[in-house]
Amino acid sequence: MNLNTIFWVVLYVLLGFITNSLAASRHCHFPAIFNFGDSNSDTGGLSAAFGQAGPPNGESYFHHPAGRYCDGRLIVDFIAKKLGLPYLSAYLDSVGSNYTYGANFATAGSTIRPQNTTLHQTGGFSPFSLDVQFNQFNDFQRRTQHFREKGGVYKTLLPKAEDFSGALYTFDIGQNDLTSGYFHNMSTDEVKTYVPDVLAKFKTILKYVYDHGGRSFWVHNTGPVGCVPYILDLHPVERSLLDKAGCATPYNEVAKFFNRGLKEVVVQLRKELPLAAITYVDVYSVKYSLISQANKHGFEEPLRACCGHGGKYNYNLHAGCGAKIKVDGKEILIGKPCKNPSVRISWDGVHFTQAANKWVFDRIVDGSFSDPPIPLNMACHKHL
Ligand SMILES: *[C@@H]1O[C@H](CO)[C@@H](O)[C@H](O)[C@H]1NC(C)=O
Ligand SMILES: *[C@@H]1O[C@H](CO)[C@@H](O)[C@H](O)[C@H]1NC(C)=O
Ligand SMILES: *[C@@H]1O[C@H](CO)[C@@H](O)[C@H](O)[C@H]1NC(C)=O
Repeated sequence: MNLNTIFWVVLYVLLGFITNSLAASRHCHFPAIFNFGDSNSDTGGLSAAFGQAGPPNGESYFHHPAGRYCDGRLIVDFIAKKLGLPYLSAYLDSVGSNYTYGANFATAGSTIRPQNTTLHQTGGFSPFSLDVQFNQFNDFQRRTQHFREKGGVYKTLLPKAEDFSGALYTFDIGQNDLTSGYFHNMSTDEVKTYVPDVLAKFKTILKYVYDHGGRSFWVHNTGPVGCVPYILDLHPVERSLLDKAGCATPYNEVAKFFNRGLKEVVVQLRKELPLAAITYVDVYSVKYSLISQANKHGFEEPLRACCGHGGKYNYNLHAGCGAKIKVDGKEILIGKPCKNPSVRISWDGVHFTQAANKWVFDRIVDGSFSDPPIPLNMACHKHL
């Protein structure tokens, strides 16, 4: 190497170093995550309240049921891992939980608006709607500080007061508000009519969290519900309303309608909450691309549940994943998992597989699908 080359190499290395450390200094230090949502991010809430999601849930990663409606981990688990935090304990889980690094208020079947049905009626919606999740958060925040002051084991189980403003607040909720209308036999137009009310409720709750110190928000939009096997099975549409991927166009239109409104709400919130950094993440596009181009991405049978009991979508309302029947006094498993969940998208006809969750996470983590295009580990900033 001559002197000239050495000069350029040194300059290049120095510049690289400076750029890297600038980027690193922009990284946020999130001491905790507080999550609100439905089954897409439930790490044990509904299981704690209504009985464990049984085997084969958890088989691919935890090797036993782990409170998740999935063979393994959810997007929120990958978020926690990426931020260097442990997987979130569910707020409702009183045994073995550690809330030092946050809490998860999500439960499967949750909606933004409270439903007027119970879990055991049509649709199976959770009583822990977003307003209830907020009440739980509120109670959690207040009481954790009271107990931390007592010291002892409480100090090693509960977050510090300042962690509430430093935390990342994640939201993934809304899909069940859309399907609830269909479970009440509403038309797509009727569902659209109540979407503004759902969005207004969402906005109110996010503001409450801000009033309680929340500053960094990571908001997932809702997925292509028209591609979900159980919706296709329970609410079939005529052939002409299926798109090339086999998804029901009207349901996906409603999801997109909701998402446009959600994005609008986020824009309003940025104006109304001057200290908030709110990142809107277009999970819809990522999920739709995965389902509509499954083979290209290394996945198979995008509209068929991996774990289920027959039919076009391998989904059966009366024989779900893990279902058993008694024949001559012997229990036989009829809701069987597929051989290789790692190449499948739908786990049980309602929820995504770990492989699909990981695929989606890998695409959203760097900010490619975010507005503004902020990566996960910089989500405390309003701009890049
Ligand atoms: C539940 O019932 C109340 C009172 O009739 C109504 O205002 C509300 O919109 C209903 N909620 C839903 C989700 O339908
Ligand atoms: C809870 O987790 C934190 C962080 O990992 C740890 O320091 C603490 O000891 C744990 N608490 C208990 C009671 O295990
Ligand atoms: C919706 O329609 C179906 C079929 O007509 C009926 O069995 C069901 O009870 C209706 N559901 C509600 C909530 O009205």
